[in-house]
Amino acid sequence: MQKDYAIQMGSSNLRYGPGVTREVGMDLADMGLKRVLVLTDPYLKELPPVQQVLEALEGEGIRYELFSGVRVEPTDLSVKAAIEVAVEGKYEAFVAVGGGSTIDTAKAANLYATYPDDFFAYINAPIGQGKPVPGPVKPLIAIPTTAGTGSETTGVAIFDLTDRHAKTGIAHRYLKPALALVDPHNTRSMPPVVAAASGLDVLCHALESYTALPFYERPLPARPILRPAYQGHNPISDIWSLKAIELVSQNILRAYRQPEDEQARANMILAASMAGMGFGNAGVHLCHGMSYPVSGMVRDFRPGGFPVPYPIVPHGMSVVLNAPAVFRFTGPACPERHLKAAEIMGADVSGVKDPKAEAGPLLAAQIEQLMQALDMPPGLSAIGFTEADIPALVAGTLPQHRVTKLSPRPASADDLAALFLDAM
Ligand SMILES: NC(=O)c1ccc[n+]([C@@H]2O[C@H](COP(=O)([O-])OP(=O)(O)OC[C@H]3O[C@@H](n4cnc5c(N)ncnc54)[C@H](O)[C@@H]3O)[C@@H](O)[C@H]2O)c1
Repeated sequence: MQKDYAIQMGSSNLRYGPGVTREVGMDLADMGLKRVLVLTDPYLKELPPVQQVLEALEGEGIRYELFSGVRVEPTDLSVKAAIEVAVEGKYEAFVAVGGGSTIDTAKAANLYATYPDDFFAYINAPIGQGKPVPGPVKPLIAIPTTAGTGSETTGVAIFDLTDRHAKTGIAHRYLKPALALVDPHNTRSMPPVVAAASGLDVLCHALESYTALPFYERPLPARPILRPAYQGHNPISDIWSLKAIELVSQNILRAYRQPEDEQARANMILAASMAGMGFGNAGVHLCHGMSYPVSGMVRDFRPGGFPVPYPIVPHGMSVVLNAPAVFRFTGPACPERHLKAAEIMGADVSGVKDPKAEAGPLLAAQIEQLMQALDMPPGLSAIGFTEADIPALVAGTLPQHRVTKLSPRPASADDLAALFLDAM
């Protein structure tokens, strides 16, 4: 197999600063756009970030309709409802105000409104047809309200396929928002459990992209256009990922325990976008691949303080619960990277004698310590899974090639079963 020899950095267009939300009306006016669809979820609808956006649009005479039917942890059905509204309204542009659930829903609505096709056409293969997005989509301005997914910087939209009880999505550079307005004020109202789960998502984005397979170990694509955005760790993504690990390690506990700490929250939302630029150009691997069936197979778990009335495993929680097991497993593949990450997180690595054996467990211990401090459940069994679920969890992970193939250590079905058992 011929291996790849090049990397491509897809830049994100991002404005960061306290108060930038109120600039959105001027941005749209300057882009010559007069009629937009604003998307959000039902719990955010009345909160300041959305209200500020609507005022900003009114101030500039931009006509808008508000769609607040985004489902937290979107599904194919909820995404289709948004697509229907987007298609009917023939909007010139889209504004997403919310967490990853809202931004991802807006990306899909924009795509299918711009290039209508069968719903499975653009969904990642092998679950969907994996058809590339035909061309640029309409402008989407993304305004994150969590310090989490980094979706404002990426060309990825994730949702649950209800029938299959597993998440999948669409990934293409053209889906990147035209502009991200990253405003630390917008996370002021974030409930602590959302701050913890979405913040741990940031950490896992950064750790997974930093420890992903190197880009030069991936197969060489036949044409440059076929080079995936998730191309493996590379010198450019490393810069973003390492800085994000540092910012999360220094700020997440303060942001969780003292939401009034403006500096900690500002650093967390910056870290989320930085990690987005890292993993958006490198990829994530097993923690995310294994999280998709975990959230898709939720039974009756309801995290305290989470704003939705239905059972849910918040995305960041579904990811981090696998993380200690995953990094114990991947440690031997690139021990120096695991050690460096553990050190940035606060581990003393000076006494390490056998990096291959010790690096994974050291990093895992740092993550476990942080999970405990952030009141995360101590494992998959604490959110209702048992050993009997392992075959289904493995079956839900195996098709997630886009991410699982980036593991620095290949994971067979048996390996995945052992990882889920460890994560219990
Ligand atoms: N596109 C990507 O690159 C990418 C990456 C990672 C995750 N995701 C996806 O993003 C989704 C998770 O997004 P998320 O973690 O940002 O959370 P979310 O959008 O699911 O929101 C979580 C909850 O927090 C509430 N909330 C959000 N911001 C708030 C605020 N400022 N004040 C009060 N309440 C607030 C929401 O109403 C919701 O109830 C998942 O579906 C996941 O798969 C996408």
